[in-house]
Amino acid sequence: MSSNIYLAASIFFLMALNTSVAGVALGGYVCNASGPRDATLEELEVIANSGSSAIVMKSCTREPREGNEEPRYSRLAFGAIQSMGLPNLGFKAYVGFASQLAGRGKPVVASVAGLSLEDFVLMVGAFQDSAVDLIEVNLSCPNLAGKPPVAYDFSRTAEVLDAVCGLGSKPVGLKLPPYYDFVHHDAACGLIASHRVGFVTCINSIGNALAINPETEAPVIRPKGGFGGLCGDYIKPVALANVRAFFERLAGKVSIFGVGGVKSGSDAFEFLLAGADAVQVATAFENEGPACFGRIASELELILQRKGYSSVDGVKGRLKRV
Ligand code: DHB
Repeated sequence: MSSNIYLAASIFFLMALNTSVAGVALGGYVCNASGPRDATLEELEVIANSGSSAIVMKSCTREPREGNEEPRYSRLAFGAIQSMGLPNLGFKAYVGFASQLAGRGKPVVASVAGLSLEDFVLMVGAFQDSAVDLIEVNLSCPNLAGKPPVAYDFSRTAEVLDAVCGLGSKPVGLKLPPYYDFVHHDAACGLIASHRVGFVTCINSIGNALAINPETEAPVIRPKGGFGGLCGDYIKPVALANVRAFFERLAGKVSIFGVGGVKSGSDAFEFLLAGADAVQVATAFENEGPACFGRIASELELILQRKGYSSVDGVKGRLKRV
C-alpha cells in the first residue's frame, strides 16, 4: 500500500472510533474501567501509554485503604469473582496523579467511592478543582461489608446527587450496579434526568455471587464468606440490558459507558448497538494486559468496515428488532 493510501486508511480507522462522553472527546471507543491495574501512578502510566482511549483511575476513598483479606480475586471459567475492598491510595494521591497524567492526549477520569455523604462531597469537590476531565461517582461497590451499594437505595442516591451535582463544571457521572427490573431503571433515570448527570457507567460487577471449589469444599475468595462481585463473560448480557435500558430512557441527554464482559471487537459492537457511547474493559485487561485495548479497537474497526459503517455514530443505539 502506498504511504498516502495507508495514511488515508489510518485516518479513516481512527476517525471511525472517535466518540465523546458528556462532551469530552475520546479518540477511541475502548478504554479501561475503574478496577484492575489502575491504582498506582506506574499502572496509570501503562494505561496512558496503551491503546486505551482514556485513563480511568481506581475508585478512591477519603483515606488510603489496604482492601479486603486475600484471597480476594479468583479467575473463573468465564470471568472472575472479586472482593477487593477498595484498595487505593486515598483521593489526594489521585488528585496529584491527574496533574501528571493530563496532556497525554486522552481524558483522565476520576472514580470516587465515598463511605459517607460527606466523603462524596469532599472528593467530588477536590476533583472539580483538579486536572481530571470526568468524575465517575461510584454508587455500586458491592464489596464493603455493612455498606450496601448506594444505588440500590433511591433516597440515598437522591441525597448524593443533590450534594455532588452542583459542585463544579466538570461532568459528573454515576457508576451503577445492575438493575433487574424496569421499575428500577425508571426510578434511576428519573433521578438522573432531574440532576446534572453527564454520564452513566453500566454496569459494576454483579454483587454477592458465590464461587465454590469442590476440591477444597470452600469458597474461592475469603472476604464476606466468599460472596463477591462477578465479572467477565458471565455478566455481558446483564450489562447489555442495562446499557439498553438507560439508552432507551436517556439517549441524547446522558452519555453511557458500557462495561461488563467486553473482551473482543464483537462484544464492543454489541454494546454500540445497545447504545453505549464508549466501552470500558476490566477483566480482559486484568487477564491480558494493556495490549487488549488496541486489539479490541482494531477488531471493532474491522467489523465496522466489513459492515460498511464509517463511524460509531452511524450504529450507536441502532439495535434492530427481530
Ligand atoms: C471494588 C469493587 C467494585 O466493584 C467497585 O466498583 C469498586 C471497588 C473493590 O472491591 O475494590
